Order: sequence, then C-alpha cells, then structure tokens
Amino acid sequence: AGAGALAPDLSGRRVVISAGGTREPLDPVRFLGNRSSGLQGWALARVAAARGAEVVLVAANVDLPAPFGVRVVRVETAEELRLAMSSESSGRQSSESSGRQPSESSGRQPAESSAQDALPLARGEARPADVVVMAAAVADFRPATVAGSKLKKGGAAEPSSVELVRNPDVLVELVAARPAGQLVVGFAAETGDAEGDVLTHARAKLARKGVDLLVVNDVSAGRVFGRTENEVTVLAADGSATAVPAGRKDAVAAAIWDVVADRVARQP
Ligand code: CTP
Ligand code: CA
Repeated sequence: AGAGALAPDLSGRRVVISAGGTREPLDPVRFLGNRSSGLQGWALARVAAARGAEVVLVAANVDLPAPFGVRVVRVETAEELRLAMSSESSGRQSSESSGRQPSESSGRQPAESSAQDALPLARGEARPADVVVMAAAVADFRPATVAGSKLKKGGAAEPSSVELVRNPDVLVELVAARPAGQLVVGFAAETGDAEGDVLTHARAKLARKGVDLLVVNDVSAGRVFGRTENEVTVLAADGSATAVPAGRKDAVAAAIWDVVADRVARQP
C-alpha cells in the first residue's frame, strides 16, 4: 500500500483528526500554550482526503488554510476541542450543544466552521467516524480561574503564582465512548529517562489510554516541533510496531494511513 499514496483506500471512510495545540486563557489577553505547529495533523488530513476519506479536522490554534476537501473546525481550549471531538467522532449531537444550526458545508469544497457550528449535524448524514486521530497537543492543565479583565502590574490583584487544574483527558474519553468498530489513534511525544526508553514509555501509554494505535515521536533530540520532517514508530495494541523512517510530514502521514487503512480494511 505504501507505493499507492493516492490509492482511494480510505474512500467511504469518515475520519476525524485533531491538530495543533490548545490555549488555556489566564485573562482576556494571555494564555498558557504549547509549541505544536499543527503541521503533522494537517498532513494527515491532506493525505486522508487525497486517499478518498471524508475528513474533519478539529484545529486548535493553527494558522493554516483548510486542506482541499477538508472541513476544518477551529477551537481554542481543551474544553472546546473536547466538545468538538466528541460530537464529530460520535456523529451525535453533543448533550452540551447549543442546538444552533450548522452551516451547510458538505461536498468536496474546503469549508470552515466554528466549534459551535460543529455540534449538531442535523442533515441526516452524520454517522460515527471510522477513524479518530488525536494529533493535537492538549494542555494537561489550565489556570484554575480566568480573570475577567486584564491582570495589571502593581494592583491589589497582581498575581504571584498561577494555580492550575487538570484538564480532562480527551483521548481516554473518546476511547470510553467509542462506537463499535471505530479505530482510535493517539500520538505521544516521548523521551527516554531513568525509568525506561522511549518505546517502553510509549507501550505503557498505549495501554493506559486504551487506543488501537499510538504514533510515537522520539523528542529526545528536541527536533520535532515546527519542523517539516518527522520520524515516528506506530505501536499497535496487538504488540506490533511499524517504524516510519525520517521524512517529510506528508510521507510520515502516508505511512501512518497505510497502517490504519490495513486495519480499517478488516472492518465491514
Ligand atoms: N491527550 C488528550 N487529552 C489530554 C492530554 C492528552 O486527548 N488532556 C491525548 C493527546 O492528544 C495524545 C495522547 O493523549 O494523542 C497522548 O498525549 P500525552 O501528552 O503524550 O499523554 P498524557 O497522558 O498527557 O501524558 P504526559 O503526562 O506524558 O503528558
Ligand atoms: Ca500531556
């Protein structure tokens, strides 16, 4: 399958991909964020669409145009990403949705919508995703409180520290709620340490998250964020591992979809 980068081996499949990095507000002008560029998620979406999938890209703070044929749902925080991923992956209206009408954006045209627009897909074609890929870097913590007005120097409210609370684990929630037959793919950026090497940590994470596949980045050398080249290992829950050699993120995306398509092909 590797040679046929444009083989329509994902046609008829609905895939939902998260990309980018969430931002957690401190006040109206400041946030806690991370360095995820969204490039690998964008490449995954582009390649999946080229191979025939219907693709929804839930994008957290990525300043890139929608890939051709891909519907992009823009989000900012982990909570917004959680709501968008929940409704897009299940194909059901989120219980927390506003009931607002979605914008019509079917077909192969690039389209944009907000997180709100993504919630109810009341056009009769919504169904669970076949594949869900969590490539986004989700903030593990957020500020416990968000100031309603800008924090100022010198005032009585001048902060000396930031209290943080844990964000929900979106991936674990998606695995827990997944419809039958849905393949769930996680990402992990790992470094080796005294406790174990990169793959040892990754295997433990795969089991902890309950995902089918975990795409592992070795970030020991600190050379992944914002770069166009990437190198990963795709671990599977059944114990298999596929090493993807260093290459442009489109090539890495194609190799990841090869592994996914092979598994999806065994589903009805
Ligand atoms: N993830 C998520 N929600 C979170 C944190 C992570 O959905 N609140 C997802 C990421 O999108 C990724 C996977 O979980 O697909 C692994 O992320 P990672 O940060 O490596 O895992 P954590 O469980 O947060 O572990 P760590 O303490 O090593 O950061
Ligand atoms: Ca984390």
